[in-house]
Amino acid sequence: MKGIILAGGKATRLYPITKGVCKQMLPIYDKPMIYYPLSVLMLAGIREILIISNPKDMTRFKDVLGDGSNLGLKISYAVQKEPKGIAQSLIIGEKFIEDDNVCLALGDNIFYGDQLVALVQDAAKLKEGALILGYTVKDPQRYGVIGFDKDSHVVSLEEKPKKPKSNWVTCGMYFYDNSAPKIARKLKASSRGELEINDLNKEYLRRGMLKVKLLGRGHAWLDTGTYESLIDASVFIKTIEDRQGLKIGCIEEVAYRMGYINKTQLLKLASKIPTSYGEYLKDLLKDE
Ligand code: TTP
Repeated sequence: MKGIILAGGKATRLYPITKGVCKQMLPIYDKPMIYYPLSVLMLAGIREILIISNPKDMTRFKDVLGDGSNLGLKISYAVQKEPKGIAQSLIIGEKFIEDDNVCLALGDNIFYGDQLVALVQDAAKLKEGALILGYTVKDPQRYGVIGFDKDSHVVSLEEKPKKPKSNWVTCGMYFYDNSAPKIARKLKASSRGELEINDLNKEYLRRGMLKVKLLGRGHAWLDTGTYESLIDASVFIKTIEDRQGLKIGCIEEVAYRMGYINKTQLLKLASKIPTSYGEYLKDLLKDE
């Protein structure tokens, strides 16, 4: 399976911060935001990754992540000229996906939890159809809401409904089979002029090919699109990292633990980071 991280958009809800700075490069405590979704793709075993962003911000990602080879990854880049919707990323990424399946991750979503690694590794084995993740929130009307029948089968997906059918909403990580770009091409733009990911998922649902994995209360799913959620995410990460002495979303550590890089490569990466972050990477080897 290949991975796409969608890291464009306008981030208007974070103005004026994001007038001059790219949202997905903003710090979430001790690392750039994009490290979090990238680390989840890596943990899922996905090593070929396409980063999609707008023309203005593309160099930022290239500066930080390069071609990914120092993490044992193959990272490539594609431009989204205008933010015309999340589903457009599958059209932009069509050539990159080729005949493979794909996991689409939003560059501003953070996932954390005990069972997460097993769950995404399992999801990455998807053969056909689509698999999306659901999470329960107290304000479902702000999201894509999942409706269930009495046997817990998914029966509806509604974007920002006034009267939500449940508290379960779709998260910013989606697993698709190879037909996703073709389906995305047939979507019509919504009233806000975007190709909606919810419409793509609804097409899989209509075909009887949509599965949902629900993330239980032992998980955190944070989005970082507003002032409050941005600082909440930083505080959350800081609290857990300080308590455990273990980092969340540390791509160098994940690359090492997943066997994508060896000790020498990890030390080389660590030596270029003259902060406690670099020390943390060096200490990983000491602990062994
Ligand atoms: P949103 O949070 O829906 O949009 P945004 O980031 O532009 O923010 P705002 O609503 O404040 O203007 O996007 C979710 C993620 O998807 C985010 O990482 C940006 C990305 N995105 C794109 O890269 N291209 C797009 O066309 C859209 C709609 C989103």
